[in-house]
Amino acid sequence: MPLSSQVSVAILGATGAVGTELLELLQTRNFPIADIKFLASSRSAGRIVSFRGEKKPVEVVGENSFDGVDLVLASAGGTISKEWAAKAVAKGAVVIDNSSAFRLNPQVPLVIPEVNPGAAATHQGIIANPNCTTILMAMAVWPLHQLQPVQRIVVATYQSASGAGMRAMEEVKAQARAILQGEEPPTESFPYPLAFNLFPHNSPLNDQGYCEEEMKMVNETRKIFNTPQLRVSATCVRVPVLRAHSEAINLEFAKPMPVQQAKEALANTPGVRIVEDWKANYFPMPIDASGSDEVLVGRIRQDLSHPCGLELWLSGDQIRKGAALNAVQIAELLVAKNWLQPAKAMVSY
Ligand code: A2P
Repeated sequence: MPLSSQVSVAILGATGAVGTELLELLQTRNFPIADIKFLASSRSAGRIVSFRGEKKPVEVVGENSFDGVDLVLASAGGTISKEWAAKAVAKGAVVIDNSSAFRLNPQVPLVIPEVNPGAAATHQGIIANPNCTTILMAMAVWPLHQLQPVQRIVVATYQSASGAGMRAMEEVKAQARAILQGEEPPTESFPYPLAFNLFPHNSPLNDQGYCEEEMKMVNETRKIFNTPQLRVSATCVRVPVLRAHSEAINLEFAKPMPVQQAKEALANTPGVRIVEDWKANYFPMPIDASGSDEVLVGRIRQDLSHPCGLELWLSGDQIRKGAALNAVQIAELLVAKNWLQPAKAMVSY
């Protein structure tokens, strides 16, 4: 790139849940855009998208889609990223990829701007946006990890339908309507009805009994924190909430972590908001987190069962900080630091 501060952008997966939010954020945050194109599958070809008052058709992604593009924001799933990211990089673009395709690739930085912004400088054409539950957890744990290293994290998630995409969100609404009318609920995106139900995350299980989503929380947190030995155990659960995830997090430190100190650190962390009204029993809820850029954290308390343990609870918008917002923040970081440069050497992805 670049050479002006105006960026030529392509959104791959522009019609999806995250893609739609990317579009919104690029507009509201005044990202410096010279030109933008919207890429998706043939299902959406020709659909009209409005951007800053201009109407543009969605294009089917193809070999020439990345000509002259500086920045690709990809959110069309791992298979599509594997197919197109390297081609975009070969054309001189930098790809911020929202899928899991490259997250653990040692050549690819995995970035949360509030946590490890410097990692973005080392990119070789692709930067990975972490998994949504991992981002939300890291936002709350990193400031405490700075006070004293966390030794062990045990987390249970309450994940909304949005993590499975727009069709999944629509399916939960359709399921609720069907169930209330005494009809059989449709189950295409999910293996079981999610409305009026919940189930352990249905990603593939490993030999130890952990699903892929849980292992993302383990491996991605280790990579982002640059602590390969960090002990993390996760139980991920899908709940009938439309778009914000919640998490119950238990942290173990080497020495006690005073609650007041933890609260002060979190209160001073950009992107985190403490939500606690102990008298009213009012704490973070998905309904309040939806549409918010901040991760809401509360119920910060000493773990009764361990002198060096701390408990907390959070809710965060899965589509925003868990996905689109983090990606746009990475893009802003690249522009601000002049790191939006094509890969210097060809890397095989
Ligand atoms: P489309 O609307 O054409 O299917 P979500 O995560 O909400 O399900 O969104 C997935 C996004 O990825 C959508 O924009 C979808 O476009 C896009 N997508 C899915 N399959 C392809 C494909 N084969 N090529 C390009 N984009 C795709």
